[in-house]
Amino acid sequence: ALISELGKQIKLKEVEGTLLQPATVDNWSQIQSFEAKPDDLLICTYPKAGTTWIQEIVDMIEQNGDVEKCQRAIIQHRHPFIEWARPPQPSETGFHHVAQVGLELLSSSNPPASTSQSPKITDLLPPSFWENNCKFLYVARNAKDCMVSYYHFQRMNHTLPDPGTWEEYFETFISGKVVWGSWFDHVKGWWEMKDRYQILFLFYEDIKRDPKHEIRKVMQFMGKNLDETVLDKIVQETSFEKMKENPMTNRSTVSKSIMDQSISSFMRKGTVGDWKNHFTVAQNERFDEIYRKKMEGTSINFCMEL
Ligand code: A3P
Repeated sequence: ALISELGKQIKLKEVEGTLLQPATVDNWSQIQSFEAKPDDLLICTYPKAGTTWIQEIVDMIEQNGDVEKCQRAIIQHRHPFIEWARPPQPSETGFHHVAQVGLELLSSSNPPASTSQSPKITDLLPPSFWENNCKFLYVARNAKDCMVSYYHFQRMNHTLPDPGTWEEYFETFISGKVVWGSWFDHVKGWWEMKDRYQILFLFYEDIKRDPKHEIRKVMQFMGKNLDETVLDKIVQETSFEKMKENPMTNRSTVSKSIMDQSISSFMRKGTVGDWKNHFTVAQNERFDEIYRKKMEGTSINFCMEL
């Protein structure tokens, strides 16, 4: 109960204009000095873009489709979030370790659009990832579904601020005053970086439409080679239905005082286009207008429904 009450009035802190959880900011220098190894793979996402999904896919690939091995720990421990300052787990195979930054990375202070100045992204990620030319796996999800998912997540997650009404949250999300900053800056920043580093840029909607195709891409990016039958098994095991039932991925081990799944499930719907059940016609028009402005000059294209 205490944590729930604290959650409602949680005070976020800022780093270079990006709101972050207080514990993250308090550990900032430690996070920044994280020493990545050249063979590290970093999973990067904006919150609610399918982080858990890609984490499970990466682990299934790394474990050659061995379901038992993927049951060895909850997913948050198998691929720790760097911003939680958790020590990375050594792994037996492949990568030295797989770390994860769901925190992100972009200052909401817009870098001047017409200059070649590095995006702010480079300032918030521990510099050793860039210095070591690590591999990055980025998953992007369309802004409207991200907003909906994030709204329900903030309702049930008592370590995040109360989202207020949907109308209120709509404004909060657009202004980027959410933990880990603006969706627009995040996605644009990584999209612009993708050809300059080893970045595999994936879309949630593509994984949903053709999981095997996208999982194969991840496998190749990781330098692995798995049989078709193994790939088929990974597709099955990482389906929404399976992951919703899997205690190692569905957060059922997290205490109710932190995540109250009676309010909203962590594995909520897992679909493309749920925004249509939330956005009013007026909100949709307003959002499209703002989106056009904020994403002007970007070549990125999102699928909004399947
Ligand atoms: P919804 O709230 O729209 O259902 P993250 O892991 O980054 O917090 O993202 C959570 C979102 O990904 C949730 O979206 C969740 O349901 C969805 N998700 C998780 N596992 C999934 C899977 N295997 N297939 C499709 N969507 C999945």
